[in-house]
Amino acid sequence: MLFKKKIEIDSSKIPKHIAIIMDGNGRWAKKRGLSRNFGHKEGSRVLKKIVRASHNLGVKYLTVYAFSTENWQRPKDEVDQLMKLILEYLRNAEEELKDHSVRIRVIGNRKGLPAEMQDEIERVEANTRNIEGLDLVIALNYGGRQEILEAVSELVAEASSGKAVEITETALAKRLYTKDIPDPDLIIRTSGEMRLSNFLLWQGTYAELFFTNVLWPDFTEEHLQEAILSYQNRQRRFGGV
Ligand code: FPP
Repeated sequence: MLFKKKIEIDSSKIPKHIAIIMDGNGRWAKKRGLSRNFGHKEGSRVLKKIVRASHNLGVKYLTVYAFSTENWQRPKDEVDQLMKLILEYLRNAEEELKDHSVRIRVIGNRKGLPAEMQDEIERVEANTRNIEGLDLVIALNYGGRQEILEAVSELVAEASSGKAVEITETALAKRLYTKDIPDPDLIIRTSGEMRLSNFLLWQGTYAELFFTNVLWPDFTEEHLQEAILSYQNRQRRFGGV
């Protein structure tokens, strides 16, 4: 008989903020002779499951990399399909996640997104603003370097307008998209790639990194627990001893 492996995680040491680079949709689809867009669709389905699982485990913030500033370089059809999928996700999320207390927020350069998407983001953020439970932070048209540059430009503009600004880590962090979100404790990347690809560069400085060969559409709650277990077995020293 087959027994499901039981993963013993310490429920008192759940990472408060998990961030995920959901990679491998294209390869997952290719392996099955399906279109890349089909892979993204599966990816979106898996995201819903992982949001619920994260909430059940007691995670407070889940940030997911849905579309990077570099992803515009993909073929137009794939970009269009991804936008459609994300729009659909935002439209249905509230209803589908209503029993899971999920507040939805979006980080990234909004002005570069289609108007319809910007409106939908505003709607869903406003409608879920007062929900307390899990904050699902969707990184959309997001780039870490661009985010830092925007924050620096803001500081420079304020300084040149004569305002007294201190150039400190806190001052810069306050001008990032994530200003009221704690830094991630754990960053997971699926599909065997081991890099950050411009994701949460400032915020991820002391995050524990977890890489798995599992392709995102195959990622399950058990894989999430495995990542958390690995996190719990590490010693976080934040540069100290
Ligand atoms: C990387 O896989 C994945 C993306 C660029 C998009 C992530 C999007 C989703 C998981 C689905 C939609 C998201 C939301 C919020 C509804 P890849 O295409 O680079 O895979 P590959 O490296 O195997 O080609």
